[in-house]
Amino acid sequence: MSNNRMHFETTGQKFFEFSQGCLLLENAGPLRGKATLIGAKNAVLVTMASLLLTHGKSVLKNVPISSDVLQMIHLLTELGAQIHFDKELHELVIDTTTICEFKVKLETVTTMRASILVMGPLLARFGKAVVARPGGCLLGTRPLDLHVRGFEKMGVQVETDGLFYHASVLPFKKAAITKVIFEYPSVGATENVLMFACLQPGITKIIGAALEPEVLDLIDALNKMGAKISFEIPQTIYIEGVNSLSPIEHTVIPDRLEAGSLLLAVAATGGELYIPNARVDHLEVFLEKLREMGHEIREENGVYLKATKTPLAVSFKTGPFPGFPTDLQAPMMTLQTIANGISVIEETVFENRLMQVKELQKMGAQITIEGNQKAIVRGVTELYGREVIAPDIRSSCALVIAGLVARGQTIMTGLSHWKRGYEKLDEKLRQLGADILLIENRDTDQKEK
Ligand code: UD1
Repeated sequence: MSNNRMHFETTGQKFFEFSQGCLLLENAGPLRGKATLIGAKNAVLVTMASLLLTHGKSVLKNVPISSDVLQMIHLLTELGAQIHFDKELHELVIDTTTICEFKVKLETVTTMRASILVMGPLLARFGKAVVARPGGCLLGTRPLDLHVRGFEKMGVQVETDGLFYHASVLPFKKAAITKVIFEYPSVGATENVLMFACLQPGITKIIGAALEPEVLDLIDALNKMGAKISFEIPQTIYIEGVNSLSPIEHTVIPDRLEAGSLLLAVAATGGELYIPNARVDHLEVFLEKLREMGHEIREENGVYLKATKTPLAVSFKTGPFPGFPTDLQAPMMTLQTIANGISVIEETVFENRLMQVKELQKMGAQITIEGNQKAIVRGVTELYGREVIAPDIRSSCALVIAGLVARGQTIMTGLSHWKRGYEKLDEKLRQLGADILLIENRDTDQKEK
């Protein structure tokens, strides 16, 4: 690590470029040890939003300290919630008694797309909601048509003036069963409609629903509040409306994406890892792909991995749960860049999620892209440390893993993405033996505290 610091100081002229902070990485050989997962960011964000359906004080446990969580705290506070986040205990106390606002500002939405998830709960609480329209993002255009059509099926009028969505519940006579049919199992649209439906009369049936582990965690939290929700695999959710929901205490599920990231980092270095609280049922297809590569995976009170030194390239295609998670596509690609053979990777969930490719190519990876959603990776014997820029959350993880196995030093900027997605994953990797140093901008640090 001292080497890292020395090198960074000698590149002082570049200090301005790195003023937003960076990660310095060097190859320190196989990582080994045990790691414990924090709660899933994608589960806690929506569960926080769902508390708008209640009046009173709820406690969420195992909450990660990611910048998205801090942003959602900010959003709920602006709506009138009283919030205390004990970062030592990872415990979030949210009192929704004093919620008084149904409009979410533009600034709040542009920094976090998940803020659209307050629309359903606000509609249920106030009969109306005004939420700034999130733009497209780097991953693609990310439309909200499924959210809108789902609400419309439930008797909500949604209009947009280009900047905001204005939604209001129309007085209409509801059928005994309302069917909301999604042609694609969107996680966010399922969650939004599901939360709204909990406080609507009659039964709502969501067909083509997403049943990702984070959606099931939301269902668990809502049922604790007093909702009446059941589901059928693969894609149906039934909601019987109730009159009110109560505050809860809820422990967020362990983050399957953090589990995947740690397993991939250790597998790439040829090491060994035990994660006692990893949920095998959340990771089946992913784990199977690691086995196909030749890695030994045991499912004993969590997940144990012993990496092969001669990994085989595997092809894979992302898809809705239980398919290969789109959020693990980028870091899995890094492993293919140094595996033996050719891997064909198809990203089917987002239309523009191969942004890590350009940066991996800088490090010596042999990757060609066909269209926007298919990559062909030819395994090479070695990657080389370079200065790279993380373009999004999951690419940041792909580049960190590349930096852990590359020859020479890697400097990764674009740190905000890393911090949005992972709580102290760099520290966890260091505890496993990684040579990784996080250099933060002090001003940014101060703002986030
Ligand atoms: C959530 C996760 C994200 C993950 C994604 C897919 C959170 C905060 N984020 O995002 O990490 O990568 O699920 O597992 O939980 N779509 C439409 N119309 C819509 C909604 C979505 O066409 O109205 C499309 C999207 O553009 C995308 C696909 O459906 O191509 C999947 O999106 P969706 O499942 O909604 O993802 P998010 O909920 O945004």
